[in-house]
Amino acid sequence: MSLLPRKHVMPSYHGGIDYAELERLDISPEEVLDFSANLNPFGPPPKVIEALCQYLCEPHCHCKGHIHFVQCKLRPEAISHYPDSQARQLRQRLSEKLGVKEENIVVGNGSTELIRLATLAYFGRGDRVLIIEPTFGEYKVACQIAGASVKKQQLSAENAFQLNIDETINLIRRHRPKGIFIANPNNPTGRYLFQAEFEKLLNASQDSLVVLDEAYISFAENSWSSLDMVKASNLLILRSMTKDYALAGLRLGYGVANEEIIAALRRICPPWNVNALAQKAGIVALENEEYLRHCQAKIKEAKQYLVTELSCLGLTPLPSEASFFLVKVGDAKAFRFELLKRKMLVRDCTSFGLPEYVRIAPRTPPECQKLVAAIKEIIKDRRRINS
Ligand SMILES: Cc1ncc(COP(=O)(O)O)c(C=O)c1O
Repeated sequence: MSLLPRKHVMPSYHGGIDYAELERLDISPEEVLDFSANLNPFGPPPKVIEALCQYLCEPHCHCKGHIHFVQCKLRPEAISHYPDSQARQLRQRLSEKLGVKEENIVVGNGSTELIRLATLAYFGRGDRVLIIEPTFGEYKVACQIAGASVKKQQLSAENAFQLNIDETINLIRRHRPKGIFIANPNNPTGRYLFQAEFEKLLNASQDSLVVLDEAYISFAENSWSSLDMVKASNLLILRSMTKDYALAGLRLGYGVANEEIIAALRRICPPWNVNALAQKAGIVALENEEYLRHCQAKIKEAKQYLVTELSCLGLTPLPSEASFFLVKVGDAKAFRFELLKRKMLVRDCTSFGLPEYVRIAPRTPPECQKLVAAIKEIIKDRRRINS
């Protein structure tokens, strides 16, 4: 057989629910408390759910946003028509919120789609791309698809995964990469680069496309705004509404950059890439900034609670400026499985090259209490077995 797929593309592993695994364990996904996906744990703004119900119903339907499919008068064209391929209304709302022009915004089926588009638009066979590890696995996958070669800067646990920017700049000078991916805050470490450091990096990489992935910016401590920097001709900022407004089932992300970069991404973007419900949800979510602020405060408290309680149990959560954080637990795979048996999920960080660490993202206070109690039990069991 002579038909072979392209080699060297290895899918990356992600947190979140593994539906096949739960089926094997006879656990239903609804029962699981997911601390492994770094999403807003309070769910989408209630107004978004209401708006989606109204969108699916005829205007004269009596449900008033509380859909009841048997009785509702549904509007088939809500899903039978293609959505606006340019997502103009959503981009217009984003433009108002961010203070940048619509021409500087592209929306994607999650920011992951935009990572792929940026990579395909700018990098090809033989191009070098700098990735700072450990980080989100999709950068590497996108580079593999494009045939680009990955240069790595490896961060270490000894420095609590803090990025040494001078080392990054040396690597840029040595390898002259066509692209650089920076997740800020970074996944899985939660470490955050301050503005002056990032500016230094941007100045040193004027011949590279710098992809600044701010998927977690909304829940970062002491965050700064990078939006003014898009005047630079080589910066693409990515953000995730999936994370901010818990729209993971719909998927929504956006990119901000100068007109040429946005146009390059849109030229290769599949038409209708953001579905009608995701566009609607995004528009309404942006009108609910108060909800987001409320969640930000609650998530901060929940993180503080978890860090304090886990420290009392003798664990050492690593410093993180994001809402999630790493904790060293020994065998992370076994630890994750022990929790999963108790219907709780944390991210085993083996795929990041950190087999002794799990990543934990806070949930609501009662859910965090359950997690702490379960971890306490696991530690007790381990001590009993080892004594
Ligand atoms: C750093 C980073 N960027 C982007 C994403 C993807 O987000 P989205 O759901 O918007 O595709 C993730 C998801 O885990 C991530 O960790």
